[in-house]
Amino acid sequence: MSGDNRAPFVVAHRGASALLPEHTLAAYELALEAGADGLECDVRLTRDGYLVCLHDRTVDRMSNGTGLVSEMTLDELRDLNFGTADRPASVLTLGELITLVLDWRSRPTKLFIETKHPVRYGALVENKVLAELHRFGIATPASADHSRAVVMSFAATAMWRIRRSAPLLPTVLLGESSRYLGGSAATSVGATAVGPSVRTLRDHPDLVDKAAAAGRATYCWTVNEPADVRLCAELGVSWIATDHPGRTKGLLAAA
Ligand code: G3P
Ligand code: CA
Repeated sequence: MSGDNRAPFVVAHRGASALLPEHTLAAYELALEAGADGLECDVRLTRDGYLVCLHDRTVDRMSNGTGLVSEMTLDELRDLNFGTADRPASVLTLGELITLVLDWRSRPTKLFIETKHPVRYGALVENKVLAELHRFGIATPASADHSRAVVMSFAATAMWRIRRSAPLLPTVLLGESSRYLGGSAATSVGATAVGPSVRTLRDHPDLVDKAAAAGRATYCWTVNEPADVRLCAELGVSWIATDHPGRTKGLLAAA
C-alpha cells in the first residue's frame, strides 16, 4: 500500500513551531538547521498590500499587539514583537521567507505557501503571491519536482486561479473531508496534490493510493505524533507538515 516509495519529505509547519514562536525567522532557521526539506507558511495581506507570514486574522495570539492584520500597515506590524520578551522577533514578509529558502545553500528546500481569506480579497492574494514568485524567478519551474514553491489553500477557487495563471507551479488542495479530497475537486482545479489532515488520513488511508492513481501526491498536516509519522511513511505520503521537523526527520531516518 504505497503512493510513493520514498520516505516522506518533512515540511516545517510555521517553522520549528513547537520550539520557537511560529512564523518567525528564528523558527524557520531552526527548522532548516534541523534538516527540514520544506517550510510551510500562511500568508495574509496588510492594509498597504504587503504579504506577511501570519496564520490568524488578528495579531493578538502571536504578538504584543491587538487588531486585524488587514487593518494594519507593514510598518505598524513591524513595531510589534512576534517573538518573546527575551528574544524579540519581527513579522516576516513572504519576500523575506523566500529569500531565506533560496539562500539556504546546503540543500534545496521548498516553500509551501498557504493563502488565507481568498474570498474576501478576490484574486488579490493569489496575484500578489504570484508576483512575489515572479520577482524571485521561481514562478515557472521546469517541473513540479524542481519547483522551489508550492501554493496551497482550502479554497478550490484559489487553487484554480493559481493553475490558470501559473500552470507549472505545484498546488495542494487542502481539506478535511475524505469525500471532497477523494472526489473530483482536485481534478477540476488541476491541483497536483491533495492535502488531508492527519485525522482524515487515519480514518481514510485509501486517500493516498486514490491520489496516486490520479497522478497526485499527498501532503498531510499536521503530523506531530510518532505513530502518525510512521503511518504516513507506510502509506507513501509525499510530504508531511509537522511542528517538530528535527524529531520527525530522526524518526523517519530510524524507520
Ligand atoms: O499545512 C496546512 C495546514 O497548515 C492547514 O491548517 O490552520 O495550520 O493553516 P492551518
Ligand atoms: Ca497553514
